Amino acid sequence: MAKTLLGIVGSLRKSGNSELFVKELFRQLSGDWELKLLRLPQMDIRPCKACYQCIFDEGKCPQNDDFSLVLDALIHADAYVIASPTYLLGANASLKRFLDRGLCFYGHLDGLWGKPAVAVAIAGIEGMEGHTKLDVESFVKLTMGDLRGSAVLYGALPGEIFLKSGARETALRLARALEGGGEPAQPSVPLCPVCGGDTFRFLPEGQVRCMLCSSAGPAGWEEGRLRVHTRAGEHTLFLSYEEARHHADWLRTMKDQFLARRNELKEVAQAYAGEGNWVTPQKA
Ligand SMILES: Cc1cc2nc3c(=O)[nH]c(=O)nc-3n(C[C@H](O)[C@H](O)[C@H](O)COP(=O)(O)O)c2cc1C
Repeated sequence: MAKTLLGIVGSLRKSGNSELFVKELFRQLSGDWELKLLRLPQMDIRPCKACYQCIFDEGKCPQNDDFSLVLDALIHADAYVIASPTYLLGANASLKRFLDRGLCFYGHLDGLWGKPAVAVAIAGIEGMEGHTKLDVESFVKLTMGDLRGSAVLYGALPGEIFLKSGARETALRLARALEGGGEPAQPSVPLCPVCGGDTFRFLPEGQVRCMLCSSAGPAGWEEGRLRVHTRAGEHTLFLSYEEARHHADWLRTMKDQFLARRNELKEVAQAYAGEGNWVTPQKA
């Protein structure tokens, strides 16, 4: 039976670069696959209300919208690719809207954990992708996928990525990575030894923090190359199945902590009650 590749398109633009890249990657797969497509910005995914019900109720969210449709598609896929355009230096907001509901993922760890996945950031102007690559990589990691590769591609007009060199080669490379073949590329930039991320924040005293997995550690020049030595901290989100479970258990303990400190917290909030005038939405 054919395996299902879920192609998550982070753009409303029909036949745009994100959509075409997903289709090209599918064509480059060598095995027996079918392509299921999902246009994320089309989905009605509302903001998380921070009720925490999902972490006590097997990942079920009380809101009735398209969130579970997308989650089910991920659960039923054998592998997935996410491709998003850059909008104002970051990925399309639909990715974050979906991730904001992600406390639900902990109720579906077995269905989500470890699926092969790749991520692509598309930007119209070279070097102007901002944090889009980090955003699409985070999308895979936070949906508990096995991030096999990622890339940034440039092209502003719909289809333009394929008029420049490199996009088809990238699709082939990522298709191979998704199917578990191909040589792992030698890193040409420093990578986080914990998760493979390549986006860091510089901290005081020669330390850096990986923006993908939040691990911190020293960075410095060794034999003419910048190297980072991050180590996993206390709160890791997606580095192992057991730690993901552990994080979900820790989240559940917060309810008792809240109940125990309720009066103390209420006092803090009451001190600010009535401060300021709210601008309210037109449709309340
Ligand atoms: C609202 C908006 C904001 C954009 N912001 C950026 C940007 O910050 N940096 C950039 O390089 N390209 C930017 N672009 C260009 C898109 O990333 C580019 O056209 C991309 O190919 C669109 O992908 P799509 O065809 O899949 O929709 C922006 C486009 C739009 C519509």
